[in-house]
Amino acid sequence: MRLLPALALAAFACMAHAADRAHDEHSFAEPRLVRITATDLDLRVDFDQRVLRGQAIHRLEWATPAAPGPVDLVLDTRELTIERVQARAAEGRWQPVEFSLAEADPILGSRLSIHLPQRLPEVRIRYRSSPAASGLQWLPPALTAGGRQPLLFSQSQAIHARSWVPLQDTPGVRFTYTARIRTAPGLMALMSADNDPAAQPDGDFRFTMPQPIPSYLLALAVGDFRFRPITERGGVWAEPALLERAAAEFADTGRMIEVAESLYGPYRWGRYDLLVLPPSFPFGGMENPRLSFITPTILTGDRSLVSLIAHELAHSWSGNLVTNASWKDFWLNEGFTTYVENRIVEALFGAERAAMETAIGQAALRETLAGLPPERQVLALPPFPGRDPEEALNDVAYVKGQWFLQFLEQRFGREAFDAFLRRWFDAHAFQSVTTDDFLAFLRRELMARQPGRVSEAELAAWIAGPGLPPSATPVVSTRLAAVDAARADWLERRSTAADLDTEGWVTQQWVHFLEDLPADIGAERLVELDAAFRFTGTPNGEIAERWYPITVRAGYFEARPALAQFLRQVGRRKLILPTYRALAETPDGLAFARSLFQQAAPGYHPITRASVQAVLDAAAR
Ligand code: BES
Ligand code: ZN
Repeated sequence: MRLLPALALAAFACMAHAADRAHDEHSFAEPRLVRITATDLDLRVDFDQRVLRGQAIHRLEWATPAAPGPVDLVLDTRELTIERVQARAAEGRWQPVEFSLAEADPILGSRLSIHLPQRLPEVRIRYRSSPAASGLQWLPPALTAGGRQPLLFSQSQAIHARSWVPLQDTPGVRFTYTARIRTAPGLMALMSADNDPAAQPDGDFRFTMPQPIPSYLLALAVGDFRFRPITERGGVWAEPALLERAAAEFADTGRMIEVAESLYGPYRWGRYDLLVLPPSFPFGGMENPRLSFITPTILTGDRSLVSLIAHELAHSWSGNLVTNASWKDFWLNEGFTTYVENRIVEALFGAERAAMETAIGQAALRETLAGLPPERQVLALPPFPGRDPEEALNDVAYVKGQWFLQFLEQRFGREAFDAFLRRWFDAHAFQSVTTDDFLAFLRRELMARQPGRVSEAELAAWIAGPGLPPSATPVVSTRLAAVDAARADWLERRSTAADLDTEGWVTQQWVHFLEDLPADIGAERLVELDAAFRFTGTPNGEIAERWYPITVRAGYFEARPALAQFLRQVGRRKLILPTYRALAETPDGLAFARSLFQQAAPGYHPITRASVQAVLDAAAR
C-alpha cells in the first residue's frame, strides 16, 4: 500500500513541526533538567554469582544549578539492586540520600529516583547487576573456544546499558568515563575505551574514555583474550584459538580506515581494534568505540564478509560521532552507516562487489516492507513508547536509509555529496541529532546551493512515506545477473547443478542463488544441489541462513542434523531466526524447533533467547 503523495506530504509537514523529535520515549531520564557529563565506574566481575558489583559516580550538569530546594535525579535501571546512594557538593563529603526504585516496566525497566536536597553536582551509587541482566552474557568455559576460562561480554544497544549501570540510558546524553574493573587474574578485561595491547591480565584494569559517548556505547568484555596488531593504530583481540584466523580475515582494516578518512575526515577515536566474540554474540557486529565487537561467523577464510568490519568502522563517523537523539531516528545511525560501509567496500573491492551487496540489501528490504504496516515503513518513525526500540532494527533504517543517501548522491553528484556528508559529520561531531536537523542541513547546504535537483515532495516521500518512492532506482549487478541466468538454466534443466559455471563465485553470489529459488522447490532438487555444492554443513553462516529454511520448507530431512548443529552452535540472531521461522510453520517442525531451542537456549544470549521464544510463541497461537 502506498500513501497518496499529498498524504505523505501532510505527514511530513506534521513531523517537521512535531514538538520535539529529540525527546526519547525509551528513557525515564530528564535531560532537560540535568545531564550526566562524566562517569567513574568501579566494578568487580563475579563469574560465580554472574554479577557485576560495585559503584558508579556520576558528575551532573544541572540546567539551573542554583535553583533552590529538593529535586529528583531520575535514572534508568533494569533488574539492578541498588544498595546505597550518596551525593556531595563539589569536593565535599559524601552524604547518604534517599532513593526509590519504581516497579519495573516490561520494556523500560525501573525508574530510579534519587531524592536530592538540592542540585548537587555528584552522586555515587553502590549497586549490583542481576545474573539475568539483559545486557550481559556470562559464558561458562565450555561455551568458549578455549574451553578453560569463563567469558563475559556486554551488549548495551539499544536500552540494555541500564541492566549493568544505573544511568541516563538515552542516546541524547553523552558522557566521558573512567573505569576500574577487577576480575580473577588470568583474564583480560576490555572496554569501549583506551585498551592497552600490552596490558597484563593481573586482575585489575583501568580505563579512560576521554571522548563523550552515549550510554549505548558503554561496553565491557572479560575473557581469555589475546592481541594481534594489524596496523600501527589497531589490531584484533580474540581467544587464542581464533587469533590467527581473525588477523588474516581482517587484514584490510587499515585500508578501510584510510578510505573512510579520505572521504569523511580524520578518525577521531585514537586506536581502532576489533574483538572477536564467541558464536553466541547475538549480532554481527557492535560499534563499541575504539573496539568493535564482532561475531566469529564472518571468519570464512576468504574475507568475503568483511563489509561487516567496514560497517562497524563506519559508525565511528555515523552513529558514534553523530548520534541519533532517539531511536525514532535510528536510520540516522544505520542508514548513514550502511551507505558509508558500501562506499568503503566499493573503494577497496570495486563497484561490482558493492553493487552485489547493495542488491542483496534491496531484495531484503522489499521483503521486509511486504511484512510491515505502513507506519513502520518510514525512515523518521513516529513516537513508539511502550514498544521495544529494537522494533526499529530492520531493513527500513538500514537499506531504505542507505538508498535515500544514494538517491541524494545521484541527484547532487558524488563530489558535492561527499563534501556535504563530511560537513555534516564535522558540524555535528559529538552531538545527538534528529531527522529534522538533517533535513534543515540538507536544505541549507545542498538543496539551496543546487536548486531544482530534489523536490520537497521527493524528500517527503523518502522520509515520511511508506514503501519505496518512485525516485528509488534499483542497483544493477552484472555478477548477480549471471547468477540469475545460471539459476534459470538449472531450474529449466538446461544444465545440471554440477555443470553450472560457478567457478570463482563469492558468498554474495551463493546467497543470491539461494534467495531466488522458487518456494515450491522439491526435496529431490535440493539433493542435486547439495551433491554439487555441499550447502548442508557449510561453515559460512550467510549461506546457512538461506539454505536451512529452504531445506525445511522442501521437507529435505537429510539436512536436519547439520541444521540442528548450526542452531545449537550459533546464537547470532539474524542467522538463525529464518530457520526457526521455517520450522515453526508446521506442527512437526515446531516440535523439532522447540526441542532444539530447549537444548540451545542456555548457550544463547538473553536477546537471542527472547527473539526465538517470540517466534515459537507466535506459532503456537
Ligand atoms: N549497531 C548495530 C547493532 C545493533 C543495532 C544492536 C540496534 C542492537 C540494537 C550494528 O552496527 C549493526 O548494524 N550490526 C549488523 C551488521 C551490519 C553489517 C548490518 C548486524 O549485527 O547484523
Ligand atoms: Zn550498524
